[in-house]
Amino acid sequence: MEHVINDIKQKFLSGVPIDKIDINTDMLFDWNLQEFLIKETVLNDLNITYPLKVEYQVSFLKYLLRKLQELQIEEIHDAIYEQLTIKLREANLEYSYKHFLMQDKGITIKESNSFVRDGTTGLKLWPAALALSDFILQNKLKFKDKSVLELGSGGTGLIGLVLLKMCEPCKVFLSDCHNLVLENISKNILMNLKDVEKENLQNSLRVHTHLSLANKMKEFGILDLAWEDIDASKSEILKLKPNVLLAADVIYDVSIFVPLIKCIKEVFQIAGPSLVFYLSQTIRSITTFNEFSNLLRENNFKITKIEFISKHFFIDETSTEIQIFEVKLNEKLVQ
Ligand SMILES: C[S@@+](CC[C@H](N)C(=O)[O-])C[C@H]1O[C@@H](n2cnc3c(N)ncnc32)[C@H](O)[C@@H]1O
Repeated sequence: MEHVINDIKQKFLSGVPIDKIDINTDMLFDWNLQEFLIKETVLNDLNITYPLKVEYQVSFLKYLLRKLQELQIEEIHDAIYEQLTIKLREANLEYSYKHFLMQDKGITIKESNSFVRDGTTGLKLWPAALALSDFILQNKLKFKDKSVLELGSGGTGLIGLVLLKMCEPCKVFLSDCHNLVLENISKNILMNLKDVEKENLQNSLRVHTHLSLANKMKEFGILDLAWEDIDASKSEILKLKPNVLLAADVIYDVSIFVPLIKCIKEVFQIAGPSLVFYLSQTIRSITTFNEFSNLLRENNFKITKIEFISKHFFIDETSTEIQIFEVKLNEKLVQ
């Protein structure tokens, strides 16, 4: 039964939609297992220190109670009612946390509870970033000893954390254009470093830092890179000379397509034709996405959809249409 509870714990801590969490009904008949389940989820140390959204925790506890009632189980552990009463009294905060447990490592991110805060969508974790993280974990070799740059990273820094903790890149640079987003990237990265790894670091990470992770030095940086002002970041990109370019959920506003394409072209120009760009995108409107992909083709890029099945981050492919693409310079023009 432990692996069943472990699966529920992993899903709960990473904020997977409640109806996607499978609760084994046999387990609920056992009073001690009910208690163990609460200890591993709502009372988990990670959730106590860095709590998930209160609304989410309440939904989870109500879901459990509903299951127990459906099964007509009369012996319901006090901890379930107790926690529900406590959570119902807790105020919803502006920020909450999610925890991703992978093998023996974990990543915690802080995100905004609203889709848009302080005029940016970048303080929230978007499903396309989960898909890209999953893709990275399934393709670690593509990132080994590579220099990686992410565009429009958003404030959670999840992609950077997955690369730094789970892969062996030599350089990881995250970028965005909003000050609060850049500050949040720094906070999220620092929150995930062990004390020894934080030694000699400033309180706020910025353009260029050397991180010693698992006894290996990695170059890390946070760039203030606005797509419409790519010229201002050219010297940094030149130093970084990326092998891999990444972006998650940046294709939604038609008015920024032209500067975004110009930015991608400049990065390819600096990095050279071997650069590979992986784009993860929630397709909200196929017309909007086609407009972007046509622009890429007009600018001599080849865009190929990558077949991908989520394995680690519990993305529900049926409810959101997330696709991952590989973008390269058109071979005919490279030769
Ligand atoms: C929908 S969010 C995605 C954030 C993150 N990649 C994720 O998937 O969770 C879009 C991100 O693109 C950034 N962005 C939007 N316009 C930008 C621009 N012109 N230059 C640089 N970044 C931009 C925003 O600040 C925001 O962080």
